[in-house]
Amino acid sequence: MNPDKKRTFLMGDLNSVTYKDLILRWADNYSTAPDQLKKMVDVKGLISAFNANIDAVIKINSKDIEALIQKFSLNEFNLIQEDKRQIQTMEDAIRGIVHCFKSGIAEEWLVEDETVYKWLNQEIGYDKLQMGGQGGIVANVMAICGVNPVYVHCASLPSIQAKLFIDRKNLVSVDEKGKLTKAHSIDRQDDTPLVHWIIEFDKGDSLSLAGEVFICPKSNRFIATYDPLNFKLHIDDHFANILTKESYQAEIIILSGYQMLRETLSDGSEGKHRIDKSIKIIENWRSDNKKQIVHLEMASTQDIAMRNHLLDTLANKVDSLGFNERELIDLLEVMGEKDLVDKCEKESNSINLFEGMLKLFEYTNAPRLQLHMFGLYLTMQKKDFIISPSQNKDGMQLAAVIAATKAGTGAIDNEDILLWASNKTVSEQGINELRNLSQHINDTLGRNELLTTGIWANESFDLIAVPTILIDKPVTLVGMGDTISSISLVAAR
Ligand code: GLC
Repeated sequence: MNPDKKRTFLMGDLNSVTYKDLILRWADNYSTAPDQLKKMVDVKGLISAFNANIDAVIKINSKDIEALIQKFSLNEFNLIQEDKRQIQTMEDAIRGIVHCFKSGIAEEWLVEDETVYKWLNQEIGYDKLQMGGQGGIVANVMAICGVNPVYVHCASLPSIQAKLFIDRKNLVSVDEKGKLTKAHSIDRQDDTPLVHWIIEFDKGDSLSLAGEVFICPKSNRFIATYDPLNFKLHIDDHFANILTKESYQAEIIILSGYQMLRETLSDGSEGKHRIDKSIKIIENWRSDNKKQIVHLEMASTQDIAMRNHLLDTLANKVDSLGFNERELIDLLEVMGEKDLVDKCEKESNSINLFEGMLKLFEYTNAPRLQLHMFGLYLTMQKKDFIISPSQNKDGMQLAAVIAATKAGTGAIDNEDILLWASNKTVSEQGINELRNLSQHINDTLGRNELLTTGIWANESFDLIAVPTILIDKPVTLVGMGDTISSISLVAAR
């Protein structure tokens, strides 16, 4: 058959499968989710390091913001100025909230000063405390899914932090004497609580400021982070040393927490030395077990020098890398891929992001890359990677179910609720992204059935694509990426 004909035939083929057909097809694909969950208990140990913190979540509305501005006689014009994305004064904190509120975006700014921390505590307060930080969130998710044991690193672990770990024997950390103990029961009394304020606001709320009215276009959050220890990637010596013992060697190591580092830290030392130090520790944790997998969750790393150093020293040593749309674009930026960055920024769709992943795959030579974007997860991996494409697909599907459960119910702190979303259908948005990607690959690389099977391979890599379940009115979105990346990997069995 002439190649052009073949292409026309396939395009027709792809376009003729309706969303309704695909819902059924993917429901069938997703039916492995309960079995994958059961398999997670077979994982022989997992280390989650390095960042756990306290998330102090508060919902505020425009009236609260206006009242604070009045109470502290803040200059309203200063609050709408674009300036450093950092919190040095209480005015900066409010400026950050306003900045996110008026555009409906999510950002995280760092609080450097203890007086501002005290002010936030006093004036903003919180509605509830929950586990925060990629390391802490991953540890809780893994423990509830039955991984045994989960070793979680905490730069600080006073009882107020410890109580946010689920109360289970399979989730351990080190106590003040350096002994591995159930994390929930530890109380390192001399440690400082590390608090991140998650300040949420609602779509449609209207804020009057400096003679203007700002209507919030999308429910979202602003994070004000006071975390002197995780800012410098502080690593607890007891934890670092104890896990070098053979009896504690873990099958999977999930790394995160680098995103808060800066080129120069507040004590004048260099951020890159902290990355280098952590790499030595991780090397000591690595076992000779060829099956051991080290995954790095990129998270949003603002400092370009740190992003560069991470890419060149750690990202090329790990087995697996996880990121969302923004984090992928940020990596492409430090790789010098300006055109692709512009393309992805203009349209963060599956086609442009897939092209970005190809570049990153080449650059890092990482065995496995995983993108979690809105509606779709994509995994690209080397042909001989120890997890097969279909195991990946099964892991990613379970991740989509549990992430949707978290979004829909607000918390996944009990095993009976984990599969709550399993009867929900995959999103139309995800199917459309997958359809476009499948078509693009068909046009550029080769014939594929990604739209129905989610798996495709050529001579250089395997690709696994899973459309996800989207929840209409999510109760929470914090920690979604961490949950998705860790389950996708760990449940891929
Ligand atoms: C960032 C925030 C933390 C939050 C986490 C969720 O690390 O600092 O507070 O829990 O993201 O992924």
